[in-house]
Amino acid sequence: MKNIVILISGGGSNMAAIVKTAQRDGWRERLGAQVAAVISNKLDAKGLVFAREQGIATEVLDHKAFASREEFDAALAAVIDRFDAPGAPVLVVLAGFMRILTPGFVNRYAGRLVNIHPSLLPAFPGLHTHQRAIDAGCQFAGVTVHQVTAELDHGPILAQAVVPVLPDDTADTLAARVLTQEHVIYPRAIAGLLQK
Ligand code: GRF
Repeated sequence: MKNIVILISGGGSNMAAIVKTAQRDGWRERLGAQVAAVISNKLDAKGLVFAREQGIATEVLDHKAFASREEFDAALAAVIDRFDAPGAPVLVVLAGFMRILTPGFVNRYAGRLVNIHPSLLPAFPGLHTHQRAIDAGCQFAGVTVHQVTAELDHGPILAQAVVPVLPDDTADTLAARVLTQEHVIYPRAIAGLLQK
């Protein structure tokens, strides 16, 4: 069985979309894959509640308890690697995980570490993507699923979806429109990776 480990920091709606798609589409039977664990760097991440209700293993690693980024990432890798199996390397899915990862961590999971970013990369890497798209006068915005490389919000693009920016949009209304598409393309992109 190929294990998927999902990293979250907050609401976890993308994580929930992946879990629900895996159930609906029978990833266990069809793809030999399962969401094995959800890890949060925040104790109060709402997504942890959903994961526990689904019977998924959860773990909280508070980054503030570590002296350096390197130490936090090493502890994170140690938890993730519990779900690694010979011949079935774990797939690590960042889903609203608000931590910058060290190059050592990224290299360790090269080719099996993916992220979702709420803009049409390479436009608007970093934070506040929706407000920046509105301020720039963009008529379209969207979301990107990509392989993670050492450079933040870069790396080969696996999937994108586009939404219109409407005249009265605020960052919140645009974010909500983009989020509905995130829930469609992230599970689909992961299923595509699992089929390879
Ligand atoms: C999403 O917009 C994601 O693209 C961004 O953070 C948000 C997380 O939402 N990186 P959720 O925790 O999956 O609900």
